[in-house]
Amino acid sequence: GSFLRERDRKEICEILCNGLARQEYRGYDSAGIGIDGDKPGEVLFFKEVGKVAGLRQRIAESKVDFTKSFISQVSIAHTRWATHGVPSYVNCHPVRSDPNNEFVLVHNGIVTNAAELRLVLQKRGYKFESETDTEAVAILIKYVYDSQPDKRITFTELVKTVLKELEGSFAFVFKSIHYPGELVTARRGSPLLIGVKTEKKLKVDFVDVEFANQESENKVIDPLSPASPGGLLAPPSAGPKIMRTQSRAFMSEDGLPQPIEFFIASDASAIVEHTKRVLYLEDDDIAHIAAGELHIHRLRRNEDGVQTPSTRSIETLEIELAEIMKGKFDHFMQKEIYEQPESVVNTMRGRVNFDTHKITLGGLRAYLPIMRRCRRIVFCACGTSYHSCLATRAIFEELTEIPVSIELASDFLDRKTPIFRDDVCVFVSQSGETADTILALRYCLERGALCVGVVNTVGSTISRETHCGVHINAGPEVGVASTKAYTSQYIALLMMALQLSEDRISLTERRNQIIEGLHQLPSQIKTVLAADRSLQSFADGVLATSKSLLLMGRGYQHATVLEGALKIKEISYMHSEGILAGELKHGPLALIDQNMPVIIIMTRDSLYPKVQSAFAQITARRADPIVLCNDGDDGIPEGVKTIRVPQTVDCLQGLLNVIPLQLLSYHLAVKKGFDVDFPRNLAKSVTTE
Ligand code: G6P
Repeated sequence: GSFLRERDRKEICEILCNGLARQEYRGYDSAGIGIDGDKPGEVLFFKEVGKVAGLRQRIAESKVDFTKSFISQVSIAHTRWATHGVPSYVNCHPVRSDPNNEFVLVHNGIVTNAAELRLVLQKRGYKFESETDTEAVAILIKYVYDSQPDKRITFTELVKTVLKELEGSFAFVFKSIHYPGELVTARRGSPLLIGVKTEKKLKVDFVDVEFANQESENKVIDPLSPASPGGLLAPPSAGPKIMRTQSRAFMSEDGLPQPIEFFIASDASAIVEHTKRVLYLEDDDIAHIAAGELHIHRLRRNEDGVQTPSTRSIETLEIELAEIMKGKFDHFMQKEIYEQPESVVNTMRGRVNFDTHKITLGGLRAYLPIMRRCRRIVFCACGTSYHSCLATRAIFEELTEIPVSIELASDFLDRKTPIFRDDVCVFVSQSGETADTILALRYCLERGALCVGVVNTVGSTISRETHCGVHINAGPEVGVASTKAYTSQYIALLMMALQLSEDRISLTERRNQIIEGLHQLPSQIKTVLAADRSLQSFADGVLATSKSLLLMGRGYQHATVLEGALKIKEISYMHSEGILAGELKHGPLALIDQNMPVIIIMTRDSLYPKVQSAFAQITARRADPIVLCNDGDDGIPEGVKTIRVPQTVDCLQGLLNVIPLQLLSYHLAVKKGFDVDFPRNLAKSVTTE
């Protein structure tokens, strides 16, 4: 953040550490901060491998004078999820350009040409101390600065020159000893927002964008290209002219400048306790903050014809800090599982009319005719979000009679899947920031398909870049293992299918049955949650020491077993596999004996007899399965262990069945003493490919 208001170092460190703690779910291999030192622009680092709590400890033990206060200062912070280089002190951000800390930065994302840059810079005599891709950027900026004979280049121009050399995705915040009190932040592909905190009302609620000057842009010479005159770097005269920017300084309504603080973060949860007034940066935006003024510049003019708006508006966030706090629960994941009776209502609120049985998804309204005429619908997602697509595929096909294909975003891209103008592509993502899903979205946009988002995070990249969409409104999800987002995505997709099929008279009865089922859902979820104790006893019993757990189901429950197995893997680190019961005899049956724990889903639907035969096949091999079945089902043999859930409409049953599996995975992880909300090696939002 950048502050123009008196704060002492202690307050500054606290603001940074609290912000990091709230973003820890994005990555938590190491954490670090860089604050102003005693001399102008000088940086003091605190870094620690592990979680933010360890960083706080290190700060508390340091001898630095924390009472020193500043009217204007710039500080940066980061939690890391290692992609390049192991978690270690040097690999931890902020990353510096040299031992004098001339340039320091934090980076989210991946610079894919870092290895090439590193080689070029090493040849020029620059020394690297870390294995990070980020360090190549730190050293590149120093190199560009060093190459300026008169050092009159502005911080923004310097960053612009550097960004032009970079490939990949990033959000950066830069600080430098050469530009005391100034901060530059930029994004391409990774999320970034700026919170503005003032005491009085602002006179304007937008910031003008300064577009690059086309004429001077053309004269910029690639600083690393051997063809550049003077060896490596364009002489300053050939560089872009510094245009007078029209961006505004913030003034209060009475026209006077006022104390102001800027908070830069990749996620609103980090800053919402300070301000709810935020502006989202677009790709290739470069924001410069100094002396209480914020100016936004564009790296380049749009070449692809996509219009970038010329202002960034300051929006008011609606999330409350309380919503992202744990409350009475031990873990976020537990809280989020228990929130499902309300989160599913929030997904349906204002959209499902239980009296008229009408569905209204405002975000799709204008696009419904195109969607109904499309040649096919392609769903694209990762992880749990992918499972929500799988869970609703059958009902989507049944209601819409449009062919549906479901794609894992990474594989979809690997295959360069053919996409056409008359395709509808639906991108499902809790965070709206998953790199693979974003790349798949851009791939489909380029091919002219209608792109629809189903996203939880308002303002996220996917929600902004799709043509239209549905916010699932599940509220912030912090636990890395996704739970309430799954049930809300499921319902959002179901509502979409219902809305698309509303003109099919022959389906009226089926639709009414489903909408009635949705009406009952919140109270049925409460019933499932009330049986939590018995799940805990399963987790405390034989499962706690098992090496492996198989989950079986078919039809609508195929997605449920995949999602259940994913939850168990993610947080209890136990091998678990979801098996389509129809495939049992084609291989997995070989795994079955009296020692292999199995959960089989046998809730009542048209496939019940087929699942009964799978049950018979495994018990004949002496398996002792736990059966997930409906309340009052007397078809389950005496003495078999059961998990009971209420019955609902076949296509909604997965919403209830997944909850005991979420709870079971939670209890297993707690029992094993693992960090439920922050499982090893995983991140909530994977913003790298
Ligand atoms: C990560 C998370 C998963 C999540 C997946 C997709 O792998 O750990 O919980 O399901 O990303 O995330 P998205 O935000 O796109 O739904």
